[in-house]
Amino acid sequence: MKILLTGQTGQIGHELAQSLQGLGEIISVSRQQMNLADLDQIRDVIRTTRPNLIVNPAAYTTVDKAESEPELAKRINAEAPGVIAAEAQRLGAPLVHYSTDYVFDGKQDLPYEETAQTHPINVYGRSKRAGEEAIARHCEAYWILRTSWVYGAGGGNFLKTVIRLAQEQEKLIMVDDQFGAPTWSKTISDVTRRLLLNGQAAAGTRVDPDHLRRTSGIYHITAAGETSWHGYASFIVDRLRAMNVPVKICGSDMIAPVPSSTYPTLAHRPRNSRLSGRKLTSTFGVTMPAWQTDVATFLEELVSEYGLPNKPSK
Ligand SMILES: NC(=O)c1ccc[n+]([C@@H]2O[C@H](COP(=O)([O-])OP(=O)(O)OC[C@H]3O[C@@H](n4cnc5c(N)ncnc54)[C@H](OP(=O)(O)O)[C@@H]3O)[C@@H](O)[C@H]2O)c1
Repeated sequence: MKILLTGQTGQIGHELAQSLQGLGEIISVSRQQMNLADLDQIRDVIRTTRPNLIVNPAAYTTVDKAESEPELAKRINAEAPGVIAAEAQRLGAPLVHYSTDYVFDGKQDLPYEETAQTHPINVYGRSKRAGEEAIARHCEAYWILRTSWVYGAGGGNFLKTVIRLAQEQEKLIMVDDQFGAPTWSKTISDVTRRLLLNGQAAAGTRVDPDHLRRTSGIYHITAAGETSWHGYASFIVDRLRAMNVPVKICGSDMIAPVPSSTYPTLAHRPRNSRLSGRKLTSTFGVTMPAWQTDVATFLEELVSEYGLPNKPSK
């Protein structure tokens, strides 16, 4: 089995490069080798490498910048996945692709099911939704795995920003009217492996393309539970303090909750980013861990294995 993997320098791609080990020959392509903004190069690379499976976590992910680069976001997030899907279909190779909670407008109160009406409210969300539609149009065997609020060892993210701020400042201000589930890139990639192995034990190695064909579609893959950015930041600060990490902030009560209107951003964000994991569980028997469990484990790994990502300031 030849597996073509994009985006290895990103949060999810970095973990996939580990999680997919043993499932086949991993052909990891960088932006230089396969630029998603260059549709001809995508065709050339796929036709030359002839993979049996394509896994595509690469994307244009700078949400605010996308507002001023809508054409580039569309090419990378919508047109490129369409070309990848068409090439995958020619080869009979299934495609695993990642998408986002930002395909929804966040106005509904309940967690979103996969069948819910999409209505993105920013350029990035519109480009990702167009990518989902292009994939569904061009190939028959795909998983589109929608996730949210991703953090991980590789790449910058909210969690690392909170660690830095907690080391630099005695007080923080955090938005408390947007709700979602922080999801660890390692869990996303480990679950991807599990899905590919169709429930075999972790030691299994045989990917069954027919299983992917039978279960082709969109799945929500976010940590269980929900919080706000304020709740998330408070949890991180409490964990850091419990691990005796030197921080300036003396407790989560020093984090002030504010409405998102206090912090206008170039791109609008959905108020409700909660995605239901029911279909993931009913189709594959997979239940995602609680967000608190994964954040706590990640922080322990970050502190004990890698050292702090930011040195405490004087
Ligand atoms: N981050 C989140 O909170 C979040 C939330 C929901 C869904 N998602 C989705 O999850 C997936 C992975 O996200 P992530 O957080 O792992 O992303 P990330 O850390 O921002 O990484 C993006 C990856 O895409 C690559 N890339 C960007 N433009 C490219 C291009 N033109 N050609 C080839 N490669 C290109 C980057 O390569 P370079 O290193 O060369 O730039 C990088 O490897 C994406 O589909 C994203 O939409 C993310």
